[in-house]
Amino acid sequence: MHDHLAHHLKDLTLEDVCSSGAVVGKLSGKKVAAHQDGDKIKAVSALCTHKFCIVEFDKNEKNLYCPCHGARFKLDGQVINGPADKPLEEVKVEVEDGELRLVE
Ligand code: FES
Repeated sequence: MHDHLAHHLKDLTLEDVCSSGAVVGKLSGKKVAAHQDGDKIKAVSALCTHKFCIVEFDKNEKNLYCPCHGARFKLDGQVINGPADKPLEEVKVEVEDGELRLVE
């Protein structure tokens, strides 16, 4: 499993998501890609469904890009182009007391 980028991932805060629109990082140790959707924060797993590299947020295209073999996903996890053929797994998050948290 490719996990070489994992150590660059920082723990996400609500501020990170709100200031950048979308960001990839960790929440309670889980690698997620979070974005702002109206007044809500939504998140999907950051693990590419092809071979489990960690996707990156592409600021220009405003979608998620996998550096390993070039798959692209919408912010909600849907596949834009392969080789991945399954959407990124949805991750439930909530905001409580100004903190972004994973919903177990
Ligand atoms: S691991 Fe993401 S495209 Fe292959």
